[in-house]
Amino acid sequence: MTNVLFASSEAVPYIKTGGLADVAGTLPAYFDRNNYDVRVILPKYTCMEKKWQKDLEFLCHFYVDLGWRKQYAGLFKAEHLGVTYYFIDNEFYFGGAQPYHLIHEDMEKFAYFSKAVLEAIRHMDFSPEILHCHDWQTGLVPVYLKTIYEADPKLKSLKTVFTIHNLKFQGRWHLRGMQDMTGLPEYLFTPDYLEFYGEGNCLKGGVIFSDLVTTVSPSYAAEIRTPEGGEGLDGLFRNRGNRLCGIINGIDEREYDPETDPVIFEHFSVNDADLVEKKHANKTALQEETGMPVDPNKFLIGIVGRMTDQKGFDIIAYMLEEMLSSGRYQFAVLGTGEERYQDMFRFFAGKYPDRITVTVGYSEELAHKIYASCDAFLMPSLFEPCGLSQIISMRYGTVPIVRETGGLKDTVDAYNEYEKKGTGFSFANYNAHEMYGTILYAYDLYQNHKDEWEALMRRIMKQDFSWHTSVEQYAKLYQRLL
Ligand code: GLC
Repeated sequence: MTNVLFASSEAVPYIKTGGLADVAGTLPAYFDRNNYDVRVILPKYTCMEKKWQKDLEFLCHFYVDLGWRKQYAGLFKAEHLGVTYYFIDNEFYFGGAQPYHLIHEDMEKFAYFSKAVLEAIRHMDFSPEILHCHDWQTGLVPVYLKTIYEADPKLKSLKTVFTIHNLKFQGRWHLRGMQDMTGLPEYLFTPDYLEFYGEGNCLKGGVIFSDLVTTVSPSYAAEIRTPEGGEGLDGLFRNRGNRLCGIINGIDEREYDPETDPVIFEHFSVNDADLVEKKHANKTALQEETGMPVDPNKFLIGIVGRMTDQKGFDIIAYMLEEMLSSGRYQFAVLGTGEERYQDMFRFFAGKYPDRITVTVGYSEELAHKIYASCDAFLMPSLFEPCGLSQIISMRYGTVPIVRETGGLKDTVDAYNEYEKKGTGFSFANYNAHEMYGTILYAYDLYQNHKDEWEALMRRIMKQDFSWHTSVEQYAKLYQRLL
């Protein structure tokens, strides 16, 4: 039996702000239970929904030394779908309306969490052999482990894996402040370790002190080794050689299943002879529900995601007037993010209420309906470590239109009209007109080659994006370390 502990700042079903939560909360359950015991440790945020908080079992408490402070930590436990979750309790750090707030608060919060994870292992009834950390919030775990806890009997043989879900966020703060908050020795705040352009950098620490580093797609693992994609750390990644690799994410196929999804309007499966009619029933229902005219001939495009530059919202904004004024399309948009994009969408929703519906906010239910009901799903990201929405769309027969970057490149094969192959539409350059050209190409297939469109829908629904293949690769990595 191999014991693994995931340390993450979020995981479904307990707390979620993005794709990290989906991965940290679903991957553990897919490991072979006879050979792996994979558990998860999270902060016990007070903003976690009450229904989850009430089932937590108190195990013990201890104190965490953080510089000159001595901070309380409670350790709680819960079971979900056969997976054990641990929670670190401290309301000073994990209070507030959301998991993340201002960077200097988050720095101290996650320095505390990182150290508390190691202290918790010393107190828990479980002895992990692998500690698998995710993103900058847990970047200091390997740093503490390989320095302050180097000689600890329960921790000294622990191996660490660090997974980067998004290199854009690195947890940076000024050196002195970080040294004070973390209580880490002074030599670590130099260019060979945590220092980065005059600041301290948690993610860099995680990369340097972990035994293996992974990203969530092979293409992204290659991109971060280049100056364009490396966010200043490309040299470090190039030097990691084969101790850095990319493993593509899967999705929770139980949650995203058009045959059983409880919130979509009509169930369907790739084996249905009347798949197209059933997809249309969903489209009609979404048009009705969102107040857009019911019209099967409008090419309905879904957009779900964080409204940031990363997701390509600036090139969408650039083309939206032209696309909407053409009258060919309808858009169903869901997400929150930068004010300027929210305002931009609100503006167009006011100008073209029959062509675009916008929900600023977060709704799992509406997201599922959009995935199930649209003809196409647009995701023209500037960069994309993996991306989950394009995968989910494919499962619902909604054709992805993506830019060829990171995980989008690894999960969507460009449609080839000559060989009648491919699983979506894609374009190479981050350019609004190139995106629009690709949308027009998809539109043409949809309107004028209906059989081909249907064949494409069936092809994407048959793709295997379950966790099984990724789990095997993670298992291999763990074995390599042991
Ligand atoms: C981050 C990335 C996204 C990835 C997810 C889960 O949210 O931006 O591309 O799919 O993490 O790994």
